[in-house]
Formats: sequence, C-alpha cells, structure tokens
Amino acid sequence: MDNSKIKRYTVTAALPYTNGPVHIGHLAGVYLPADTYVRYLRSNKRDVRFICGSDENGVPITLKAKKEGVTPQVIVDKYHKIIGDSFKEFGVSFDIYHRTSSLMHHQTASDFFENLYNKGVFTEEITEQYYDEKAQTFLADRYITGTCPKCGNENAYGDQCENCGSTLNATDLINPKSTLSGEPPVRKETKNWFLPLDKYEEQLRTYIEGHKEWRPNVYGQCQSWLNAGLQPRAMTRDLDWGVKVPVKDAEGKVLYVWFDAPIGYISATKELFEYARLDVWNPKAEEYYINQNTLQKGDWEDYWKDEDTKLVHFIGKDNIVFHCIIFPAMLMAHGGYTLADNVPANEFLNLEGQKISTSKNWAVWLNEYLEEFKDKQDVLRYVLTATAPETKDNDFTWKDFQARNNNELVAILGNFVNRVVVLTHKYFNGKVPMLMEIKPEDQEVIDELAAYPAKISASIENYRFREALSEVMNVARLGNKYLADTEPWKVIKTDEDRVRTILNISLQIVASIEVLIEPFLPFTADRLMKMLNYGGHLWEDAGKMHLLHRGHQLGEPQLLFEKIEDETVQAQIDKLNRSKAENSLANTVAAPAKENIQFEDFSAMDIRVATIVAAEKVEKTKKLLKLTLDTGLDQRTVVSGIAEYFKPEEIIGQQVSVLVNLAPREIKGILSQGMILMSENSDGTLTFVAPTQNHSNGSVIR
Ligand code: MF3
Ligand code: ZN
Repeated sequence: MDNSKIKRYTVTAALPYTNGPVHIGHLAGVYLPADTYVRYLRSNKRDVRFICGSDENGVPITLKAKKEGVTPQVIVDKYHKIIGDSFKEFGVSFDIYHRTSSLMHHQTASDFFENLYNKGVFTEEITEQYYDEKAQTFLADRYITGTCPKCGNENAYGDQCENCGSTLNATDLINPKSTLSGEPPVRKETKNWFLPLDKYEEQLRTYIEGHKEWRPNVYGQCQSWLNAGLQPRAMTRDLDWGVKVPVKDAEGKVLYVWFDAPIGYISATKELFEYARLDVWNPKAEEYYINQNTLQKGDWEDYWKDEDTKLVHFIGKDNIVFHCIIFPAMLMAHGGYTLADNVPANEFLNLEGQKISTSKNWAVWLNEYLEEFKDKQDVLRYVLTATAPETKDNDFTWKDFQARNNNELVAILGNFVNRVVVLTHKYFNGKVPMLMEIKPEDQEVIDELAAYPAKISASIENYRFREALSEVMNVARLGNKYLADTEPWKVIKTDEDRVRTILNISLQIVASIEVLIEPFLPFTADRLMKMLNYGGHLWEDAGKMHLLHRGHQLGEPQLLFEKIEDETVQAQIDKLNRSKAENSLANTVAAPAKENIQFEDFSAMDIRVATIVAAEKVEKTKKLLKLTLDTGLDQRTVVSGIAEYFKPEEIIGQQVSVLVNLAPREIKGILSQGMILMSENSDGTLTFVAPTQNHSNGSVIR
C-alpha cells in the first residue's frame, strides 16, 4: 500500500486459544513482532489500533475442559486472565485484549453469519461426519486425529495438520481415531452450512497476486492452495460450545471456530470504540485489558471498511490459510470490508532442539518466566526478536539466552549507556556538557548516527524485525567504538573542552537509542528515559543532535542489564528435563485390560520353566529364531519372533517360561511346540519372563 495514502492502521495479532498459557513460541512468532510494529507506528504518530483477544470457542477449549473435568467456561475464565495478565506485564501494548465469549462477539459473529446466510452465500449440505458412538457426539476438528494424507504425520487433527500446515477435512485422515474414546469413529449424516470457497477462487487469486511483496512463505502457501483448487468448507459444527448458528433448524450447532475467531478482530474493535464512546469507566476495562494510555474516540468502521486503512495480521504459519484465504473470502462474501494489506506469518520456534509442545509441557511459559525473571521482560523480548523465526524455523536455547544477555545486552548496550552517564556525572555533575569544536572524527559519527533511523524504519516497515534490532544494537556499537577511539577518561586530564564534545555526542547517541529501542525493549527505554530525564519516544527525533540540550540535568545512573549466571540457566534446563521425564512417565499408557476369564481357563495353560539349549536364526526371515528348549519333560523346538532383540549366541543357557501345551504349529516349515513368554516394554523392547532364581527345568508356573 502506498504510504502516502495510509490514514490509519488496524494491526491484529492472532487470538490465542484459551486452553493454556502462552509460551515463547507464540511470543516470537506473533506477539512481539506485532507489538514492535505498533510501538514503532505510535512513535511515528500514526493512528493505529492494536487488536487481540482470547479465542474461547471451539474444540481446543472443550477438549481441555473434558481433560480437567470442568466446564469450558471455567477453562476460558482461567486462561483469559492468565494470558491477559502476562501479556500486560510483558509490555504487549494491545489497545484491547477482548474475548470471543463476550456478548459483543456473539452478536457480531452471529450477524455476520446471518448476513451471508440471507444473501444465499452458504450451501446447505447433508454429509457424513464422524461420530463417536460411545460418547454419542459428532467429532469435529480436534476431536479426531489420524494420519495426515499429505505428510504422514500420525497426529494430525481433523481440521489441520500442524506438521505440514495443510488444512484438512476430518474425512481425509487415514486411520481416524476419536480423541474422546480412542476408538475408530463411525460416519453419521448431519446438516451443515458450507462456504463455497471455490466460487471466490478468482477473486482470491487477484487479491493474492496483487501482493507479491508478501513473505515468500506466505505467498507460496497461498499459491499452492489456489493451484490445488479450493473446496467448499463447512462453517458450522455439531458442538455445544461456541456461537449458536442463528438460523432455523440448527439446534446443537455452532459456528466453526475458524469462522468466528477472525470476526473476533472486528468485535474487539467495536468493543474498544464502544467503551471509548461511553466515556465512563466500567468493569469491561479490566476484563478486556483496555489500554487507557492509547484510548481514543472514533468509529470502528473506519478501521475495517475504509480503503485508506492499512490492515495487518500478525500470525504463525499454521494460521496462513485462515487469514489469507478463508477470512478474505468471508469478507468478500459480506462486502464492504477492506482486506489485509499484509500477513507477516512467522515460522516456528523450537526449544532446545525440539518442537514446542503444550501437551508435552515442552515450553517456556510466559507466566512462569515473568515470575522467575522479575523485571527481565526485555531480556526475553530481546532474545526472541534477535532469533525470531522470520524466514525459517529457529531454536531457542537457554545457553543462547544467557550468551545474548551477557555478551550483547550487558556488554554492548548496557556498557555504553553506563559509561556515558557515569562519566557525565563524574566530570560535569550530571549536566549535559556543551558541544564545542567538532572534529572530523566527530562528524563521521554524527553522520553515521543520522543514517540509522531511516534504515531501521525500512526494516520494520518490511517486517524484518531481527534486522531492525540488530541495527539498533549497531548504534550502541558505534557509541562504544567512539568512546574507545576518543578515550575521554584520558583526555579529561588535559583537555576538558574536548571531553565536553565527546560526552555531548555520546549522550545524543544514548538518547537516540532510547527512541530506537523503544519498540523492541520498552522497559529499557523507560529506564533510559529516567536516566536521561528525557521525554523520549518520538521517532522523528532519533539520530539528531538536539535531543539533550546543554545544561540539561540527567537522572541517576542505573544498570540497564545484569549478568545472568550459569546456575540460573542451568535451573531452567533442569526444569525442562524434569518435565521431559515426567511426561515420558505420564505417556506410558498400559494396553487396555482384556475381558475377564475363569480360573479354569487359566489353569488349562501348562506353563513351565525351561532352559534354552540351542538357538539359531531361521533362514530367510528377519524376526524368527529357532530355539531348542530343555523343558524338563523333553527337548523340543520352539520358533519365536525375537530375532531382532537377541543374538542366538547370547541367549543360550537363559531360563525362560514356556507354554508347553499350546497346540503345535508349523512355522516356515519348522514344527513349533510351544510358546515362550515375553514381557514387552512400553517402548516396544522385549525381555524374557523367567523365575528370579534358577529353578529346575519343568517347574510349574501358576
Ligand atoms: N486460536 C488460533 C490459534 O491459536 C488463532 C486464531 S486467529 C483468529 O491457532 F484469526 F482466528 F483470530
Ligand atoms: Zn501433514
């Protein structure tokens, strides 16, 4: 979009599901880049609304509620607060953090559906959907898992494969299983309303091809969907939690969560302006985290319907299709809305080399980080932006976290600021000294500094936040180099005026850093503001030499960052390893019990202690060993499928338990007379079942 045309911005960040706290993957992928972008726009005095909220409908919520044995309402209330509080404490500066369980949202989403329904957009179709007979319920979306037909991931959901990012229909899955009962589902007919995406294909193609500037991963994914041909998609579900389908004959049905959630951006914007309009404080301000600092009256429609509004969706890569295909198709069908100008989707962040997983508790949770690292919001903000998965998946490690804090924040940024402020206090009582004679080496630094803001702007406006942050750090590097070259601590002995110039310039660099770093590290910017006793935060001032006037009194120096010790990060690594151990225990699910049998059935089995006296591989097989057993009754041959686990020579002399009265059977031309008992571990490995002390062969096991 042509910059000169832009009147205002609507920036959205994907609504997190309220089925758990947010973790570093969410932050790096969505919330930090979005917040940085918005803070940058505000610093440029642009009109911007920053919209987010809790995604409280859909199967992810009802599943979690089932798991914890509480109602979905309890779950969403709990996590809305945990997530909202932690975003606030982390400095994510939403104008509103709304909820899709709100009345405003239910009304807005319901009206939107009705609008499309009345226009005859939907097709009404009776289709076979998966149904769990035990639980007596239809299995929408995440209630069903199975193998992804595209990539073979065995844990794909009914609506989406998180491994390859494909959107799926439950009926596409191979080996589908109900997540409620674990059983294969049956098919049962039900009526739903479908959005004929195929009818919008050409319009969508025109839209997307008009945005060749989008990130290659986003543009490429859109192209491949379009090329594969779009299919109608059900916009309703047989489910009892969510926004009721507002038409006749739709009992027990709700809107598909991916229909209502993006409308959540719109309802949140409406709520925000409704609150601003009323001009009286009400409890919604707290429940929806309405930002009182940025509150402003206005008309929500301007932010969604005016062509001069630039709409940007920040999302993770698993959300691309919903924001670039389905939501735009909904908006087109409705009419009157502007479409997103950009959808900067990030790739995934891994943690210590492994995929972040909520269910496996392999994550760094924001709420826990905030408790354990008090006042260190910016360290995490820094590390996550510096390693943001903008173009490819990336890895977060605690060692890297420590290294970046110690070697970059402390050693480069903190060190520069500290030296400048401390020296100014020492030599000039904390008053900004006058700029005296400017030498060529000073001018060089002044010119270099002046070039940074535009460079950093360009990176941010093109959604390259890593690059932008590294340029801000280069400003601090420039400052450090200037001090090292000019050595004011030596010059002070001979030429106080020279030191005046050096420190004046250095202080202007610090003030510029305050402005430039604010979108990334707002807490640091605040500390800098106090230290400089300076009002800050206007982008247009950055890079200039007049930010701090001669004679201006600085505040007290304070350390911006402190070293993080080995023990601190080791404790975090240990914590992760503990959760891995607990998880592998919790995941050891024993096979379901078999039906009861009678004692007679058991005592009919003649199980004896025997010793393996000879063993050899059965030719042309991978799994079979031919064993000769001394059973105390006789020497006999048993063929056993254990060749992958044991070498023949290693098991000679081993005592085993053998079912001796199993009817003989021919296996690969060998008569097998009995079966040895094995224990199979949860990881699939085998071991023999034998008396714990040597017993004579033929001893009875009962
Ligand atoms: N809750 C979804 C997720 O976590 C994102 C919803 S984004 C919105 O993947 F567009 F629906 F709001
Ligand atoms: Zn897949």
